[in-house]
Amino acid sequence: MTAETQPALDPEALRADFPILDQEVHGHKLVYLDSGATSQKPLAVLEAMDGYYRHDNANVHRGIYALSERATADYEGSRAKVARLIGVADPREIIWTRNATEAINLVAYTWGRRHIGRGDVIVLTEMEHHANLVPWQILAQEKDADLEFIPITDDGILRQDVFDVLLRLKPKLVAFTHVSNMLGTINPVVEMTRKAHEAGALVLIDGAQAVPHIPVNVAEIGADFYTFSGHKVMAPTGSGVLWGRRALLEAMPPFMGGGDMIREVHLRRSEWNEIPWKFEAGTPDISAAIGLGAAADYMMGLGMSRVQDHEQELVRYALDVLPREVPGIEIYGPAAPEARGGVVAFNLPGIHPHDVAQVLDRFGVAIRAGHHCTMPLHERLDLSATARASFGVYTTTKDIDALAAALQQVQKLFG
Ligand SMILES: Cc1ncc(COP(=O)(O)O)c(C=O)c1O
Repeated sequence: MTAETQPALDPEALRADFPILDQEVHGHKLVYLDSGATSQKPLAVLEAMDGYYRHDNANVHRGIYALSERATADYEGSRAKVARLIGVADPREIIWTRNATEAINLVAYTWGRRHIGRGDVIVLTEMEHHANLVPWQILAQEKDADLEFIPITDDGILRQDVFDVLLRLKPKLVAFTHVSNMLGTINPVVEMTRKAHEAGALVLIDGAQAVPHIPVNVAEIGADFYTFSGHKVMAPTGSGVLWGRRALLEAMPPFMGGGDMIREVHLRRSEWNEIPWKFEAGTPDISAAIGLGAAADYMMGLGMSRVQDHEQELVRYALDVLPREVPGIEIYGPAAPEARGGVVAFNLPGIHPHDVAQVLDRFGVAIRAGHHCTMPLHERLDLSATARASFGVYTTTKDIDALAAALQQVQKLFG
């Protein structure tokens, strides 16, 4: 069956894969609306990790015995699964990291230190997560380089006209998020990558909020680096990915030194291992990588187009129901549901989002409140904080109804 002929995802049925969701919080059924912070994990992932520790636990790449060979096969097999998930032909271009943050730092510390110099320009955007901002600030301070920012419109769309102007500065690197974790905006990554390349820049895309929610094909996007976190895409914490073009990765110096990342070591010099291991010093988080492979299988089994359709329906539903049921609610980001990933940030005027989240918790509804690691974006929108509901494959319209009902209670409580 093709994605077009497959039936829509049935989140009620899928919930059986997520035992954690079957619980009460403060006497109410748990309504988990914080998948943007971290996703819940399906049984297939829990079982893959459990299976590793129960049957195959041994260090990888080292032991010449059955357990280590099985562990190594699963660990490296996961790389191939993740490569398939994001449309990468060569699994050796998949570097394991702890999370998206480490993946971006890896590029900043290795490629960045070697290629960015005094007066060089790096173009970022106003909607970046701190993970795709602070590493470039550190690099720019060290190298006396310049950071420039693509501004957003008031409804959270990147100003492509200003991007075109910034490209005239001939930046060395353009780094931006695929999907905003606060506004939900899906950025036009193919077009932006093409324009950046025409201007001679390399492109890094932060896919932390894209890979879990929409189909991602790195080959079609054509960027140079693509990063994401495993824990947001059904996998355990401690798993993350840097994809980079082979030639770039091969030319980059290592990030950390130690075991596994070397081919030969002498007292005064060493030779580096091939990619991907050149960037994977020390004993890795083997079970996390195996869990990420299982998560990639799980997501591909669902079909990423169906995942996107499901979450877009949820966004459409939320953008329709919340303003009707919760008078006065302010919702941020693009008005069109099809322009957004599964994230809805909002405020109830006069009520601090921390208070909103705390009262919602009393009704079993888990959302996030704060700046969501996007302080400059909040500053740009003149907001100190927002509340955020974010969705996953197991989210239902009933969850959004429960959110609306609980928000009504918040309004009652605060008058
Ligand atoms: C867009 C975006 N980029 C990067 C990150 C950083 O992810 P992690 O904390 O897993 O490294 C996040 C996490 O919320 C995110 O939403």
